[in-house]
Amino acid sequence: MRQRKPIVAGNWKMNKTVAEAIDLATAIKRELGDCKDVDIVLCPPFTALKAVSEAITDTHVDLGAQNMHWEKSGAYTGEVSAEMLRELYCHYVILGHSERRAYFGETDEIVNKKTKAALAANLQPIVCIGETLAERESGRMTEVITTQVRGSLADLSPRELVSSIIAYEPVWAIGTGRTASPEQAQEVHALIRSLLRELADDAVAQSVRIQYGGSVKPANARELFGQPDIDGGLIGGAALEARSFIEIVRGAI
Ligand code: 13P
Repeated sequence: MRQRKPIVAGNWKMNKTVAEAIDLATAIKRELGDCKDVDIVLCPPFTALKAVSEAITDTHVDLGAQNMHWEKSGAYTGEVSAEMLRELYCHYVILGHSERRAYFGETDEIVNKKTKAALAANLQPIVCIGETLAERESGRMTEVITTQVRGSLADLSPRELVSSIIAYEPVWAIGTGRTASPEQAQEVHALIRSLLRELADDAVAQSVRIQYGGSVKPANARELFGQPDIDGGLIGGAALEARSFIEIVRGAI
């Protein structure tokens, strides 16, 4: 039996108008609204959070955001706080996605501040890490993952670690159609779990859910999610269409 409940989240990125978001959320909840075997999370853009929140009320499908600021309020034009997300019934927030790291300058230190602020506001952070192709090919994968895990999760208590979710997303697999093989992904997930053991202890390491992300499709989901240290997925492109997202979620059951 699985000791950790799988979690599959759809990261819609900068896609979907409000009307499109309602359609997609409605189609997903129609089939998965009472699914209790997998935690299902929809992460629309900020502009569609309220509409999606209303569309999935009273179902087992949860809401997540794609980013937030670490401060509670203030002069931070264009930003939103954890409290603001909670107000819209978000339970999760994606932090440190590789696109935020690459295009918006997010460092492990920033991701760490956001992670702490999310936890303090009772939001479960989905903390993203992953190496680039150049880093993998130059033999630096272990070093990069170790630095990201230690930096992004620095100073978290064991309880905070258990409330956090880690998403391993190799940058070379995001939106490229080039998925990590189940063995490649499992190797890194096991590494991440061993790093969690160092940060806390074995019980904590065994409790934290680690998602895989990067070109997950209905055709490869079940095999990836079947690996011992892979506890679900963070889905980009294939989460934009109800049928493929539903099939991916079923791959985690
Ligand atoms: P794709 O599933 O489109 O490769 O995107 C993965 C991702 O970045 C999810 O956060």
